[in-house]
Amino acid sequence: RIAGPSVLVLFGVTGDLATKKLLPAVYDLANRGLLPPGFALVGYARRDWENQDFAQVVHDAVKAHARTPFSEEVWQQLLHGIRFVPGAFDDDEAFENLRSTLAELDESRGTGGNHAYYLSIPPRWFETVVGQLRKHGLAETRGEQWNRVIIEKPFGHDLESARELNRVVSSVFPSSSVFRIDHYLGKETVQNMLALRFANQLFDPIWNNHYIDQVQITMAEDIGIGGRAGYYDGIGAARDVIQNHLLQLLALTAMEEPTSFDAKQLRTEKQKVLAAARPPHDIDLHTARGRYAAGWAGGEKVNGYVDEPGISPDSMTETYAAIRVDIDNRRWAGVPFYLRAGKRLARRVTEVALGFKRAPHLPFDNTETAELGSNALVMRIQPDEGVTMRFGAKVPGTQMEIRQVNMDFAYGESFTESSPEAYERLILDVLLGDPPLFPQHEEVELSWKILDPILQHWENSGVPPQDYASGSWGPRTADEMLARDGFTWRRP
Ligand code: BG6
Repeated sequence: RIAGPSVLVLFGVTGDLATKKLLPAVYDLANRGLLPPGFALVGYARRDWENQDFAQVVHDAVKAHARTPFSEEVWQQLLHGIRFVPGAFDDDEAFENLRSTLAELDESRGTGGNHAYYLSIPPRWFETVVGQLRKHGLAETRGEQWNRVIIEKPFGHDLESARELNRVVSSVFPSSSVFRIDHYLGKETVQNMLALRFANQLFDPIWNNHYIDQVQITMAEDIGIGGRAGYYDGIGAARDVIQNHLLQLLALTAMEEPTSFDAKQLRTEKQKVLAAARPPHDIDLHTARGRYAAGWAGGEKVNGYVDEPGISPDSMTETYAAIRVDIDNRRWAGVPFYLRAGKRLARRVTEVALGFKRAPHLPFDNTETAELGSNALVMRIQPDEGVTMRFGAKVPGTQMEIRQVNMDFAYGESFTESSPEAYERLILDVLLGDPPLFPQHEEVELSWKILDPILQHWENSGVPPQDYASGSWGPRTADEMLARDGFTWRRP
């Protein structure tokens, strides 16, 4: 699967995402031989740069963050197709300049009018840029030629704004040309959830409320907000990652088997399960929010959230959120799905853990042990990629004593192939026009429908998020929330 001749136009080249992920991903794709020789990369930003200045920025980003080793030959090939267009997002002259730059590349590099516009920009500019693309004839297509738009999250900050954003984008691009990025879907381990569930006979019979009593989806980060105060404040953990990444993980865990992995089938199944998912009836009892207080991380003293540069002391933004979601269908009725995400937690780990009911009868002496008989299947998304099965085994000795043990599959041990970075896979899929890994607008709307009542409730309550120590596992209220249902959070 090698992309055809095309130009990737990147709006927002000076941002963190471009430096750390997007520019290195383009290089890695080239290095793996997945981009055609004529491929071109155009950067657009409000900087007084020439082509060679931007090329230097790309070069530095590649040197610092690319996954694959640096090759001068690959770099030289990429370099020939690098252009920069300086300008503000509402600057007509700059868009005309972009148009002639693309026309020149289509000729000289043979890219034939195939353009992917990547909007890695603050959402308030989406409408302007999409409008400019239309106004300057950059969204029109003729014959076989294609123009696609790639939208980085957030897709709105609630249901209404998501709908508005969709209205704007779909007035210019047909839905088949719109690629919404949820980079979790680009991760190997997330795609492997489909393999685990649907390539095996082993798990299907137990994948339901007869055997499973709770599901915990965790996205824990040890980092704070870093230099992202401008983006993060007012957004918070629920909007930042639960609305997209965690609800996508929930959908992949809970959906029915699609008849094939083509985009239509996959999206249909995800939509069905998201439509059946609902927020808890009592939001106070079944959600929790917190924000990190000063403490220690990686041996260093760190600021509390409200003391981070750029955050106002009376900020109400949460850096930790936990919510219970119930799914009203035959497979999952009665099984709570607990979703939690937080920054400055004890360690970086993302996982989906299915907790199983205890065996109906335990003919052993130590049946008091709470853990006994509580099997788990854990899909380890990152960083220690793999799958763990946890079950009870006899402790060697003269007594029939049972202890929980792990059976592990680890990517590093089973595969020699290296995993592409999520953004590599997703950029390649856009250039190929391959949509299954991109959530459709309907999924985005359904996710907001689950989250909106919770966000509104939190906002109306006027209660600030509860402080938790940096380096801990989150606020006390999150533990209480699970204890009420008779569960405890995993400490992976
Ligand atoms: C992004 C969030 O979507 O995902 C960030 O905006 C978060 O806040 C990041 O840090 C985490 O991504 P990953 O791939 O490192 O888990």
